[in-house]
Amino acid sequence: MESKDVRLKVNLDEPDVIIRVDVIQDEIYVGLDTTGDDALHKRWYRVYQHPAPLNTAIASAMIRMAKWKPDKILFDPMCGGGTIPIEAALMAKEIPIGKNREFAFFKLFGRMEPEYKEKRIDMEIYGMEKFKKHVLGAMKNAEEAGVSDVIKFFRGDATSLKLDFTPDIIITNPPYGLRIGSKRIIEDLYDGFLKSLRNNMEDGTIVVITAEYDILKEKAMFYGYEIKEEIDVRYGNLNTKIFNMVY
Ligand SMILES: C[S@@+](CC[C@H](N)C(=O)[O-])C[C@H]1O[C@@H](n2cnc3c(N)ncnc32)[C@H](O)[C@@H]1O
Repeated sequence: MESKDVRLKVNLDEPDVIIRVDVIQDEIYVGLDTTGDDALHKRWYRVYQHPAPLNTAIASAMIRMAKWKPDKILFDPMCGGGTIPIEAALMAKEIPIGKNREFAFFKLFGRMEPEYKEKRIDMEIYGMEKFKKHVLGAMKNAEEAGVSDVIKFFRGDATSLKLDFTPDIIITNPPYGLRIGSKRIIEDLYDGFLKSLRNNMEDGTIVVITAEYDILKEKAMFYGYEIKEEIDVRYGNLNTKIFNMVY
């Protein structure tokens, strides 16, 4: 006002530019919000909404923890809407995850689409799921993401695996029992899954996120899995853990 003699317009409901100010003890941080209100984990490909989808940022962190590379066979035996297989395929094909989204800085500098060249690369990624509805949904999401050529989705039961491939790396997000409401069902599921996996995998890495970490840990130890890493993740209102295991 003083320098320009005009009062700058402020729109608190739909601002073009958000300036964030944090005061931490005796320091002030002033920053331009380039992202906007849409969280970075949001993706364009979720055309099928699974009732309990995994946060895509957590899915990619799990893929990195497992040190998966496209020369390893990746398998998610409880894949729901397919987030883990899809995030892995996007990573390997080097498809930018910010594709088709809005950023706050577009309002300042104009819309910019990431320039990229999709990497053509052979890989084997499998997603299995108990319910047909979710299998079909995962296929739709993979199609939308542009990765349906490298992921095979199929129906099956994680407690009685009958695989015609031998996975190197398992990354999965099993049910926690919140909707199911019975610990017994979760105990049987985790027990059956870890037991069945032993017969279908020679050696390898298993990365799992669950809020029922005591049950998972007990079963993993019982079946001789070695827990390499255990990371606490506050996920929404839930305390969860990611286990990185081998056997
Ligand atoms: C937490 S959800 C996974 C969500 C998924 N990560 C996503 O982002 O869409 C767990 C999934 O495991 C499936 N499931 C439960 N029991 C199973 C079993 N015995 N075998 C295979 N899938 C199972 C459920 O149907 C559900 O879709």
